[in-house]
Amino acid sequence: MVNGAGGTADAGDKKFITRRRFILGTIVIAVIGAFGSLLSMLKLLSPSKKGSGYVSTIAPGDVLVYASGSNIGTEIKAGSLNLGDAELVYPKGKSSNPANLVQLIKLAESDFKEPTDSKLTDKGFIAYSAICTHLGCTVSWVKNQTSPDASYTECFCHNSIFNPARGELVEGGPAPIPLAQIGVKVTDDDTIVFTGDFMGPIGPQV
Ligand code: FES
Repeated sequence: MVNGAGGTADAGDKKFITRRRFILGTIVIAVIGAFGSLLSMLKLLSPSKKGSGYVSTIAPGDVLVYASGSNIGTEIKAGSLNLGDAELVYPKGKSSNPANLVQLIKLAESDFKEPTDSKLTDKGFIAYSAICTHLGCTVSWVKNQTSPDASYTECFCHNSIFNPARGELVEGGPAPIPLAQIGVKVTDDDTIVFTGDFMGPIGPQV
């Protein structure tokens, strides 16, 4: 009898433990679900123009400096670029944020076509995000020595090609959207400054 009574008590304990585990499991799943919904909501609320977690800290008036080469960190002078030239630049003092990396390009103003926003250009200088919208590699400049207006931007990671005279529209490869344009202006002392933030999403969009 004692054993029988003990057996009944054990079965009851097991049932209780099983039920408690079930309730705990349900609570954990509910919490995870709620957390997931919250994350989705926050993602929707975050500004879409910033892309997948890439948030620039460029502000109007920031001076453009070289991002690479022997002049790295020094202010770029407008007179140092010829037609068809391009440089990777950062806003001065803000190179620690890779989302701030920009490609500054010099073309003939007459080359600019829609959807390029000519108001964001100055004296043939035009600038775009240098972060590929496919998987985030840094883009490169392919200069056509004989015909500067035929130069273009390419991402060599997976060969996406962008048209700088037409708002960096994608002309080949897997990049889903153009590189975002950002306003620049040449100052009286021949330095170049940003006039605002990027006009579209930056960083990888897949
Ligand atoms: S990361 Fe640029 S094409 Fe893939």
